[in-house]
Amino acid sequence: METYGCQMNVSDGELMAGILAAEGYELVGRPEDADVVLVNTCAIREHAEQRVLGRVAQLNGLKTGRPGLVLGVTGCMAQRMGETLLRDAPYVDLVMGPDSYRSLPESLERLGAQAGDRGTDGDSRRARRARGDRRGQLTVLDLHPAENYAGLEQRRADGPTAWVPIQRGCDHRCTFCIVPYVRGPEKNRAAGEILSEVEGLAGRGVSEVTLLGQTVNSYHWEGVSFASLLRSVARVPGIRRVRFTSPHPSDVTPELVEAMAEEPAVCEHLHLPAQSGNDRTLRRMLRRYTVDDFMGKVEMVREAIPGVALSTDIIVAFPGESDAEFRDTLELMRAVRFDEAYTYKYSRRDGTPAARLPSTDFVPAAEAQARLEELIEVARGIQAEINQSEVGRSEEVLIERPGRREGQVVGKTRRNKVVAFDGCASRVGEYALVGLERTTGATFAGTETSSAATAVRA
Ligand code: 5AD
Repeated sequence: METYGCQMNVSDGELMAGILAAEGYELVGRPEDADVVLVNTCAIREHAEQRVLGRVAQLNGLKTGRPGLVLGVTGCMAQRMGETLLRDAPYVDLVMGPDSYRSLPESLERLGAQAGDRGTDGDSRRARRARGDRRGQLTVLDLHPAENYAGLEQRRADGPTAWVPIQRGCDHRCTFCIVPYVRGPEKNRAAGEILSEVEGLAGRGVSEVTLLGQTVNSYHWEGVSFASLLRSVARVPGIRRVRFTSPHPSDVTPELVEAMAEEPAVCEHLHLPAQSGNDRTLRRMLRRYTVDDFMGKVEMVREAIPGVALSTDIIVAFPGESDAEFRDTLELMRAVRFDEAYTYKYSRRDGTPAARLPSTDFVPAAEAQARLEELIEVARGIQAEINQSEVGRSEEVLIERPGRREGQVVGKTRRNKVVAFDGCASRVGEYALVGLERTTGATFAGTETSSAATAVRA
């Protein structure tokens, strides 16, 4: 299984691994060792799709001498391209969208059957394809408006952190975004099921969970709001850190901010996608807030949670965005001073409302690139200033993995900052107090100032 794209996709990969494990499949580390290769894809921008098409073509090379190998493309790009994908990449056997993973074992079985005796019938398969006969291929693209994968559990790699999906799909219609069309409407998971999953994770040594949803804070289930779910998750014994992503600014309510401020386990970090700093552009993006509204949310969060780290997503060169409107976005960046910004050039996605805007509205590529570069420079400058000012602090770090250098480990602070320091790889999963000594601008290097034992909070 190879996964591209967002955290939700990573989590979907874990879901598929869980579904297949229940049928006796096993994950292998290299595609060369697999009988089935699934490429789990993203459709958010054209660039993401091109990367995947290149990779899938490369994986097709594995079929030489191993005609029984099943090559599947799953996820958002599979849903978006559907049959077109089979035309562009005729060696793909399975195209499956994000609402169809329950039928994955059955689909693989059908492909095996259709392939004849797998492993020996490659020539006739190829011959069938040469005749344009698609019997050996399968597309499963139904969107199920109620599919929340109740009763199924992810198969996760061991480690101290875990993604916990609480919601799938999206009810917003931001005009640039493909997600509602490839993941369907918002589908929430039962609060009780989420809580027992988190309890199970805590029992297996997970101490940090990240709740996932496309607009995670619009979650609701039979009277349980996102804020109250967050509180319950934060109180599960053994859970020391809770994060969530991605929230929509419109659903950042006083109730949610209060829960964040009051629950010690909820981390002091909020991802708040602004997308633009200009009211006309925000309106045309159908974001449902103004710059003033957004600033109001920032203020509310900062007042309730002193020192909270804020991150954001920004799109430049949305169709029709003027240079002056782009400068409003730079202004927003300087006004808010985000700890981190994920920056994108608008990418036209067929089927979305923005893709149907008059062609004269589309910002020329060179102009879009120039705006992106200017935005990145501003965002990085601010990030470096903020991080520089944090050098000298002592921070609690959850050790997540061994570092690149032998004898080094890497982890994150509660405010989501990456820190590398000297430590033994066997300490992954422990908490340490680390003095921040240097920053590259984006990440930190430090030295442990106290043992895990003293860093442990009650
Ligand atoms: N073009 C560029 N960026 C996009 N995003 C979503 N759709 C597009 C698009 N068509 C960005 C948004 C979103 C992030 C996950 O990806 O900023 O928050």
